[in-house]
Amino acid sequence: MGNITAKFINILQSNTILGLFVGQNIITLQQVPSTNEYLKDKLSNSTPLAEGTVIMAVHQFAGRGQKGTSWHSEPGKNLTFSLLLTPTFLNPKHQFSLTVAISLAIAQWLESLLHTAIKVKWPNDIYIGDKKIGGILIENILKGKVWKSAVVGIGINVNQVDFPETFQEHSIAIKQILHKDSNIGELLPDLCKYIEREYFELKNGGFEGQLAMYKQYLYRLGEVHPFLIDGVSVAGVLCGVTAAGRLMIDFNGHVVDFDIKEVAFSVKPN
Ligand code: BTN
Repeated sequence: MGNITAKFINILQSNTILGLFVGQNIITLQQVPSTNEYLKDKLSNSTPLAEGTVIMAVHQFAGRGQKGTSWHSEPGKNLTFSLLLTPTFLNPKHQFSLTVAISLAIAQWLESLLHTAIKVKWPNDIYIGDKKIGGILIENILKGKVWKSAVVGIGINVNQVDFPETFQEHSIAIKQILHKDSNIGELLPDLCKYIEREYFELKNGGFEGQLAMYKQYLYRLGEVHPFLIDGVSVAGVLCGVTAAGRLMIDFNGHVVDFDIKEVAFSVKPN
């Protein structure tokens, strides 16, 4: 098969001509502990679900965040959903590329909706100024060396303005920018379009460009800030991210890269 024909078939299979697939099947649950857990459960029971299926919760009462944290959301006020993707075209070594695509999609969607600068706090927290507006929890299901599926959990603060005390100071919602409530059911399909666009871009070999764009969104890029390394706060300049997703920090001209377990954003320098 010629290259052009192969590419055309790939595009057809990717549905770029046939229409959208992310969010075409939205299952809304009134109450669920965690949409990620629910979707993973369905997958482990071999329930047939099409790629792009979205599990949306009205009331997610035991939401999960990164690094074993919890994700709190008032019933009916926010976007709390999990999306099924099957990135079998990617080597599991390149898991960070999906983080990049999803982060970019959310950042671009929020920017178009809110007309304000959006930042991505490495690796995948979504920020406005110094406040978090959303988070992503991607859980990958691998079979041997093949990436079978990804459960992409997304939480975006929409109409909730009161947060648990520890988060209040560092959280923000769409409502605080638009000064009015938004309709969750209308926001979701729009966000799905942005996710679909970035996912296709990734599928069509666009990772390099996406990584460059992701870097432009990085929170604190090019600024001197304290980072917590082995429990010690050290000042450095965040200068980029490697293709494998390691954070690059410049310490007086000496660049070191770290994975998520090795570094944290710190508040005060030592
Ligand atoms: C984080 O910032 O720590 C990630 C938060 C991810 C929250 C979403 S809400 C929908 C989905 N279901 C979960 O239990 N968590 C994710």
